[in-house]
Amino acid sequence: MRDYKIAAIPGDGIGIEVIDAGLEVLQAVAARDGGFQLTVERFPWGSDHYFETGGMMPDDGLETLKAFNTIYFGSAGDPRLPDHVSLWGLRLAICQPFDQYANVRPARLLPGIEGPLRDVGPDDLDWIIVRENTEGEYAGAGGRVHRGHAEEVGLDVSVFTRGGVERVQRFALELARTRPARHLTLVTKSNAQRHGMVMWDEVFEAIKGDYPEVETDKMLVDAMTTRMVLDPASIDIVVATNLHADVLSDLAAALSGSMGIAPTANLNPEGRFPSMFEPIHGSAFDIMGQGIANPIGAFWTASMMLEHLGEPGAAANLMAAIEQFTAEGTCMPRDLGGTASTRQVTDAVVAILEGRNA
Ligand code: IPM
Ligand code: MG
Repeated sequence: MRDYKIAAIPGDGIGIEVIDAGLEVLQAVAARDGGFQLTVERFPWGSDHYFETGGMMPDDGLETLKAFNTIYFGSAGDPRLPDHVSLWGLRLAICQPFDQYANVRPARLLPGIEGPLRDVGPDDLDWIIVRENTEGEYAGAGGRVHRGHAEEVGLDVSVFTRGGVERVQRFALELARTRPARHLTLVTKSNAQRHGMVMWDEVFEAIKGDYPEVETDKMLVDAMTTRMVLDPASIDIVVATNLHADVLSDLAAALSGSMGIAPTANLNPEGRFPSMFEPIHGSAFDIMGQGIANPIGAFWTASMMLEHLGEPGAAANLMAAIEQFTAEGTCMPRDLGGTASTRQVTDAVVAILEGRNA
């Protein structure tokens, strides 16, 4: 039997609740499939770990993670800690060293879910945002000078490398090739940012000819926000920088019904390091510990993880169960207009996977 080793890092806040739910659902998918098993090890890293040890994860954390096929991640963030400390101590501390340069963020109106846009149905909103995930505005370059004085300077320097730009653009072009619409939009801000962003445009011009079957266009990021709202059906795949795609993917999640359903894959496409899968939503301090978080984002994320592991049948079964669940619409969590708890949503999806009525 095929055996996959999964490192689960629930992290902070509702990350813990939704990863627990996601692991139950993953085991139900594996049991239904019968051809593989998942061996899961949990790592209690995150803000509590920080207060106990001074680090969000142990010093040899990356070494430990290398032994796993994939990482299933909840969220990092805690009201007691500045956000940049929790982010750089865990999520970015994994994405960057493991060279997970392609951050894949699908957004789709699932059946039965009504988004905020009028007259927009599932066929009109089916996007994948590809986010550069190792450099750009999140490179961490910069500093503070004259700290605390009136003349203080704060610098955040974006770092774009030709190699880093080309590999993520090629990834997006290849992904576009596999889609029925075969369309890719390059998003930059090369009118105002005249160095790195212009290089993004130039690299794209130089390589897009290698993918003649993919239709392409270009947008400035501000104009892209209006196109997402006003003409969603014209969009298929989008490739953008780390920060631009961060912003666009929150908008995409909201337009597809809720932050609570949106998934992400942080991929090292060459497989030199484990890839990491996480729901987009974050730790959501306001509802943590109440058992009401929407686990659908963690389930969809789990489906992406199965696809990556080479189990497309199981991935499709899980996605179909999620869609049946949303289409039925009888047990929706709060962010989708219902009253169901994390437990109830999880039970309902497991029941679908097991072929029972919830
Ligand atoms: C995301 C999140 C993170 C990011 C936060 C938690 C730092 O917003 O995954 O989109 O900006 O990358
Ligand atoms: Mg974000």
